[in-house]
Amino acid sequence: MMELSTDHFNKLSQQIYVRLGLQFEEKKSYFLQKRVEKRMDVLGFQDPQEYVFLLCYADPEGTEMQALANLITTNETYMFREFEQLEAFANCCLPEVLSAKQTRGEQKIRIWSAGCSSGEEPYTLAIILQEVFPQSQYWDCEIVATDIDQNVLAQAADAHYWWRSVREVPPPYLEKHFIQEGERYTVRPNIASMVRFQHLNLYDRMAMRAMRNFDFIFCRNVLIYFDRPTQEQLAGALCQFLAPNGYLLIGHSESLNGMKLPLRCLRPSIYQRSPS
Ligand SMILES: C[S@@+](CC[C@H](N)C(=O)[O-])C[C@H]1O[C@@H](n2cnc3c(N)ncnc32)[C@H](O)[C@@H]1O
Repeated sequence: MMELSTDHFNKLSQQIYVRLGLQFEEKKSYFLQKRVEKRMDVLGFQDPQEYVFLLCYADPEGTEMQALANLITTNETYMFREFEQLEAFANCCLPEVLSAKQTRGEQKIRIWSAGCSSGEEPYTLAIILQEVFPQSQYWDCEIVATDIDQNVLAQAADAHYWWRSVREVPPPYLEKHFIQEGERYTVRPNIASMVRFQHLNLYDRMAMRAMRNFDFIFCRNVLIYFDRPTQEQLAGALCQFLAPNGYLLIGHSESLNGMKLPLRCLRPSIYQRSPS
């Protein structure tokens, strides 16, 4: 069995931090080692030094970093996760934004699921939008869902799920918005077509510049994998992509307390951008 020396681990984890923003502490050395071992098998490498060299000095296009990213991200998710927060979104935030838009004669709404994993979160948002605001089908509604992991994005685009993913979906919604075939649940096309999936590294400033003017950004259970300075930097960037009065929703175990951001906290894990 291959073993990563402390020096190799430090070099790899530093490189991952610089390029993905993800932090690997020493206690995750075994986890990283197993993933690196997989990549070394694919590449036919025997010596970890070869892999360290490839990742740190011979990967200008980021191809190997992407292959490793596909193995090291944590993708745990399910539909209607953090139900109370979604209720607040559905009953308070969304109606407020829709009514302000109607007053202004606008018919466009933009939602971003940043770190969408295999798609459960953005499809949940599409279902809520459809339920709360059936007229949304006549509006220009865009739900953009991004992740760094190409494997989960491929699963998301398929829109097929097992019980584990749909277990928290309220039964009437499960009936209405999914096609069940045996143990498999497929998101119905009218909901699936509301979501556009896209590959994006939240740590890539250039790629992030294309994101603009969102009414809602859901970045839930993603910040937790970054250290505090990176969290603040990412939250600051997300604020710039929010429309005035737009909302940023984070995971319930995450917090933006103490960060200097143009946001006010409405309730734990729901923040609103200042009007200008
Ligand atoms: C635990 S999942 C959260 C999924 C969903 N937001 C939820 O709350 O159920 C975290 C996701 O963040 C993604 N992620 C981690 N680092 C990222 C980065 N630098 N850029 C984009 N996505 C990233 C992972 O690939 C993973 O799919």
